[in-house]
Amino acid sequence: MQPKMVPVSVFLLLLLSFVVVVVCAQSNGTRISTGSSLVAGSSSVQAWRSPSDDFAFGFRNVDNNNDDLFLLAIWFYKVPENNIVWFAKEKDNNPVFAPRGSKIELTASSGLVLRNGNGGEIWKSKPITASVAFGSMKDTGNFVLVDSINGSIWESFSYPTDTLLPTQKLEVDGVLSSRKSQGNFSLGKFQFRLLRDGNAVLNTINLRSGFPYDAYYISNTYDSASSQNSGLQVIFDEQGFLYVLKRNGEQSNITQPSVGNPVEAYYYRATMNFDGVLGVSSYPKGIDGDANGSWKDLFRIPDNICLSNENPIGRLGSGICGFNSICTLKSNGRPICNCAQGYSLVDPNDELGNCKPYITQSCDEEQEGAGNFNQNLYELVDLPNTNWPMYDYERFSTLNEQVCKSSCLEDCFCVLAVFGGSDCWKKRLPLSNGRQDASITAVSFLKLRKNVSLESFPDADRTVKKQRTLIIVMSALFGSSVFIIFILLGFKCLGLFVLKKEKLAETCTKNVFSECNLIQFTFMDIYKATNGFKEEIGRGSCGIVYKGTTEAGDIAVKKLDRMFEADRDKEFRTEMNVIGQTHHKNLVRLLGYCDEGSNRMLVYQFMSNGSLSSFLFNGDPKPSWKLRTRIAFEIARGLLYLHEECDTHIIHCDIKPQNILLDEDYNAKISDFGLAKLLKVDQSRTETGIRGTKGYVAPDWFRSSPINAKVDVYSYGVLLLEIICCRRNVETELGDGEREEGMILTDWAYDCYEKGRVEALIEGDMEAMDDFHRVERFVRVAIWCIQEDPSKRPTMEKVMLMLAGNVDVSVPPCPYPFSSMV
Ligand SMILES: *[C@@H]1O[C@H](CO)[C@@H](O)[C@H](O)[C@H]1NC(C)=O
Ligand SMILES: *[C@@H]1O[C@H](CO)[C@@H](O)[C@H](O)[C@H]1NC(C)=O
Ligand SMILES: *[C@@H]1O[C@H](CO)[C@@H](O)[C@H](O)[C@H]1NC(C)=O
Ligand SMILES: *[C@@H]1O[C@H](CO)[C@@H](O)[C@H](O)[C@H]1NC(C)=O
Ligand SMILES: *[C@@H]1O[C@H](CO)[C@@H](O)[C@H](O)[C@H]1NC(C)=O
Ligand SMILES: *[C@@H]1O[C@H](CO)[C@@H](O)[C@H](O)[C@H]1NC(C)=O
Repeated sequence: MQPKMVPVSVFLLLLLSFVVVVVCAQSNGTRISTGSSLVAGSSSVQAWRSPSDDFAFGFRNVDNNNDDLFLLAIWFYKVPENNIVWFAKEKDNNPVFAPRGSKIELTASSGLVLRNGNGGEIWKSKPITASVAFGSMKDTGNFVLVDSINGSIWESFSYPTDTLLPTQKLEVDGVLSSRKSQGNFSLGKFQFRLLRDGNAVLNTINLRSGFPYDAYYISNTYDSASSQNSGLQVIFDEQGFLYVLKRNGEQSNITQPSVGNPVEAYYYRATMNFDGVLGVSSYPKGIDGDANGSWKDLFRIPDNICLSNENPIGRLGSGICGFNSICTLKSNGRPICNCAQGYSLVDPNDELGNCKPYITQSCDEEQEGAGNFNQNLYELVDLPNTNWPMYDYERFSTLNEQVCKSSCLEDCFCVLAVFGGSDCWKKRLPLSNGRQDASITAVSFLKLRKNVSLESFPDADRTVKKQRTLIIVMSALFGSSVFIIFILLGFKCLGLFVLKKEKLAETCTKNVFSECNLIQFTFMDIYKATNGFKEEIGRGSCGIVYKGTTEAGDIAVKKLDRMFEADRDKEFRTEMNVIGQTHHKNLVRLLGYCDEGSNRMLVYQFMSNGSLSSFLFNGDPKPSWKLRTRIAFEIARGLLYLHEECDTHIIHCDIKPQNILLDEDYNAKISDFGLAKLLKVDQSRTETGIRGTKGYVAPDWFRSSPINAKVDVYSYGVLLLEIICCRRNVETELGDGEREEGMILTDWAYDCYEKGRVEALIEGDMEAMDDFHRVERFVRVAIWCIQEDPSKRPTMEKVMLMLAGNVDVSVPPCPYPFSSMV
C-alpha cells in the first residue's frame, strides 16, 4: 500500500488543535516534583499513584523466575492481575528490563531517567524539548511531563506498548505491539498500526528483522479518491469505544458502542493481545485488592482470527500461528496454535511459534526401492476441516480424492495435500497459514512417517513379485549355517545394466544419528518377529543373524554376541552411527535397532537372494556373466560411496563374498559394518589391529605401516577374480579335488594372465567367452587391485572407470614383487 501524503498545512492545523485539546484536558494528577525518584526492589516508596489510586507508576517485577528483574511500568493499581498498561521500551518496541537497585529519577533537563545500580543510564524519556517543571500521574493512566509555560512536553500515552486506555489515541505511524505471552513481556509478533495511508491494520512481523507481513485485519479507512476520507487517528474514547477518526471528521467504528458496562463502574482497555486478537475489555471498578473480578472481552478483532487472512495480498510469513502449526478458535474467541501431528515446537515455551518435523522426508530414500519406497515409509493422515491456503507448489484438477492422496504420497517433495471441490493442492515445507474450522470444507492429508512399529518398515522389493522359474538350492548364507534360499533363474531382464556416469553423483545423507530415521524396536517386537530367534541364517562378525517375518515383510536381525562383551557397547554404537548415516542402494540398509538392557540387536533389510558367496560358488551352471559384471560394478559403487562420499569416510575392512548380499532383483549390497574402521576426513591412515578374513586380507595388515582404504581395494580385487572365475580364492572345503588343488586363485589368475591364458579362468563359461575383451579388462583391473604395494592399487573411483572401460587399463605389473609371505 502506498502511503498517502496529507497536505502539511492541514496536518499542522490538526496537530495544533490536538495540543490545545491536551492542554485543556489537564485533569487532576498527582504532582511529582523534579528530583523525585523510585528504586527498583526498594521496600519504601512503592510507586507514584494517581489521585484516585486507579493507576500507579513505578517498578514491577514481572518475571516469575527472576526476582531481580523489573519493568518501569504503569498499571491499574486496584486490579490484582493482568494490570500493566504501559512499560518503558526501546525504540524497537522491546521492553527495557531494569535490574534490582535501578533508579528512576525525574530531572528538569532530561525528564525521566532510568539508571541501573551502578549509575549507568538504561533509558530516558525522549524527546524532552524544554525544561521539565514537574511530572503528573493522571487518573486516566497517562504519565505526563509538564513545562512551566506550554504544558505537556512528554507523555506515556504517546508511547503506547500493547494497550490503549480511554482518551488515548494512536497517531499515524503509531503502533501497539503484542508481548510474547501473557506472562512474558518480550516483544511478540503481532501489531496494531495506523498506517500513513490512513488504514488501521493488524499484522504479524518477522521478529528478527521487524519486517511487517500482510495485514490480517484492515479498517478500510483509506480512500484513494480523497485523502480527506482517510484515517487520521485511532481513538479509544472515554466510553471505551474504538474508532478511526478520518481527516474529514467522520468516524469509522472499529468496535460497536458498548452497552451494559457503564464507564463509571468499569475500567476499560484496548489491548493488542499476545495471541493476535485486538480486544476491548472491561473490569469492574470498586473491587479492591483481593477481589473477584476479571477482565472480560467486550469486543474482539477480528471475529475469527484463524480465518482472517484468507486472501492476503502477499505470501510471506507463517500466518497467525507458526510454520507447520494449525490455528483453531477456542470458544472464548481466542486462537490456539497446535503443531500438526508429527511436528513439535521449535521453542517449547513459544506456543505461537514454529513447529519442526520430527523427521524430514528425504528424496534419497526413493532410490532405495523399486520407485515406490516412499509409499512404504509414509502414510497420510486425514485432517478434516483443515486448510493451508496459498503457498502451493502444485495444483491440479481431480474429482478423485484418492488421486490427490497418491499424488502426494508418491512425491518426495509433498508433505501435505489439500483436497477441496475438484482441486488438489500440494504443499512443501514449511507449511503456513494452517487453520482448522468447521466452516472449512477442504480436507488436508498430512504425510507422516509410518509409526515406529514393526509393521512399518519399508520393504519395497516385496511389492513387485515377478514371475520366474524357481529351483531350490542348498546354500550357506553369511558363511556358516545352512539355509535354503530360492535362486531365481529368469535373468533375461537383468542384462540391461549400463553404468551411468551420473550415478556417481549420488550423495550421502548427512543426518545426525538422532535423525537418521532408524526405527527403535522393542525386544518383544523382535522376539515375536523372529518367532523366538528360531531361524538362524548366518553368523556375522560379532553376532548371529536370524530371519524374522513381519506383516510388512522379512527382516534380518543381527543379535550382537556376548563374546564381544567388552567391546559391545562401542561396537554397537559404532555400527549404529555409521550405518544410520549411510544410505546407498549398494549398501544393506539398517532399518532399526533394539537396545534394551543386555539385548542389543540390529535390524536389516532381508536379502532374499542370500550372499554373493552362495550365488557364485554353489551354482551349476555358473550364474550369468552379465549379471556377475553388474554385481561387480555395484560392489565397486558401494565401496566408492563408503570411501569417498560419506562425511565420515569408512573403510570396510572385511570385503568378501559372504558380506555381499543380493536382494530380490540381484542388486548387490554390501553388508556387515561390524568391522568397519571409521576414518575421519583428512585422516587417510589409521592404526589398528588386523581385521578381516583370510584370503581377502591385504598384506598391508602384516606390515607396521598404517592402514588406509586401499585394504578394501585389495579385497575387492580378490573378490573380482572370484566373480570372474566363480571360484573361491582359497578353497577351504574338502572334497574339492577336481579343481586345481591348493592353488590360490590370485596366484593362478596372475599366472594365467602372464602366460596369456586368460581363457583358462573362464573355462566352460560361454557367455563370458563371448565377452572376452571385458573379461580381460576385468582381470587386469583385479591384478591392479591386488598389488602388494598399496600405493600402486587404484582408488575405487579409478576402479569404476576402468571396469566401465572409460579409461584404459594398462598392463599390470606382478602383484607381489617382493616374494610375500602371505
Ligand atoms: C480537580 O480537583 C478539584 C478539587 O481538588 C476538583 O474540584 C476538580 O473537579 C478536579 N478536576 C477534575 C478534572 O477532576
Ligand atoms: C513553548 O512553546 C513555544 C512554541 O511552541 C516555544 O518557542 C517555547 O520555547 C516553549 N516554552 C518552553 C518553556 O518550553
Ligand atoms: C520471554 O520470551 C523470550 C523470547 O522467547 C525468552 O528469551 C525469555 O526467556 C522469556 N522470558 C520469560 C520470563 O519467560
Ligand atoms: C459508530 O458508532 C456510533 C456511536 O459512537 C454510532 O452512532 C454509529 O451508528 C456507528 N456506526 C456504525 C456504522 O456502526
Ligand atoms: C464473586 O463474584 C460472584 C459472582 O461473580 C459473586 O456472587 C460473589 O459474591 C463475589 N465474591 C466476592 C467476595 O466479591
Ligand atoms: C505410534 O506409536 C506411539 C508410541 O509407540 C503411540 O503412542 C501412538 O499412538 C502410535 N500412533 C499410531 C497412529 O499408531
